[in-house]
Amino acid sequence: MQRLLSLEMVRVTEAAAIAAAQWTGRGMKNEADDAATTAMRSMFKNVPIHGKVVIGEGEMDEAPMLYIGEEVGNGEGEAIDIAVDPVEGTELVAKGLNGALAVMAIAERGQLLHAPDMYMEKLACGPALAGLLSLDDPLELTLQKAAFGLGKKRSELTVSILDRERHAKHFRILRDAGVRIRLLNAGDVAGAMAPSFPESGVDLYIGSGGAPEGVLAAAALTCLRGEIQGRLMPMNEEELNRCYAMNIMNPHEMLTMERMVGKGDVIFAATGITQGDFVGGVKFLAGDQAETHSIVMRAETRTIRYLRSIHYMPSKPQLDAYLGQVI
Ligand code: FBP
Repeated sequence: MQRLLSLEMVRVTEAAAIAAAQWTGRGMKNEADDAATTAMRSMFKNVPIHGKVVIGEGEMDEAPMLYIGEEVGNGEGEAIDIAVDPVEGTELVAKGLNGALAVMAIAERGQLLHAPDMYMEKLACGPALAGLLSLDDPLELTLQKAAFGLGKKRSELTVSILDRERHAKHFRILRDAGVRIRLLNAGDVAGAMAPSFPESGVDLYIGSGGAPEGVLAAAALTCLRGEIQGRLMPMNEEELNRCYAMNIMNPHEMLTMERMVGKGDVIFAATGITQGDFVGGVKFLAGDQAETHSIVMRAETRTIRYLRSIHYMPSKPQLDAYLGQVI
């Protein structure tokens, strides 16, 4: 993949983040999502790719924009698979809470797993533990291995997990083991990435979240040299059939990063909407300016770039899409 696409990707996530951030703390998550999706889609028009959304806002009949199968880009470049989440953590934006991102990942056509929209059990760690843990192990053993791998006592571990009733068993095991727990309101792409950033203070991410978010996290962790393993959790016949329809013939297989994002190059970009562990949120500045903080990474070179951008809003051709209809 052309490395110049990295910057194009950031332009797309920046636009989505600015659009969504207009709605921060206004209690309207759908409006934030619509604004970000509109901005993202309009930014794609100039990107020199022959892109196809494989993870997006939903099936064609349920999502008007960035639906699975939608072709994006100006059609002139490489054939690219795209995974997008214009607002990863809609509830966080609506409540003005930390941790919301605009994210996307791209790879050559055919590389990204077409993950159905259902839960996925996940285990993610940073580079120091990559290759040492297994989702097949009982959680107690995973904690022991993690402590050993990091040279810490178990009581010194910090484990992050979504604050959900379905995780009651995880909470019990974590408490019995005496580890620290960091509960997330939402946003498990950032959650799975956190252990790869020592400054986050998080050692492991566990529990179930969205499967599409699992693939996005796998793209990020491939670039960060961390690791995520996943397993789809189809709950009924209909969800099982959805797996088969997406060509996942063994829905209970353990999904490695390679299975989720392939062996080739991957580019991952994210822009903070609200403040996060590794990128800041959007700030609206005086003089019609907005400041964004993004991370963009490429698997082939493992370069991790942080971008602080100042946008002069009147010069943005897609201004209407950016601003949405806030007031
Ligand atoms: P949305 O941005 O679509 O609201 O998703 C937020 C999120 O927290 C994801 O990060 C996570 O994978 C999923 O929801 C978890 O789902 P649930 O809220 O049902 O536990």
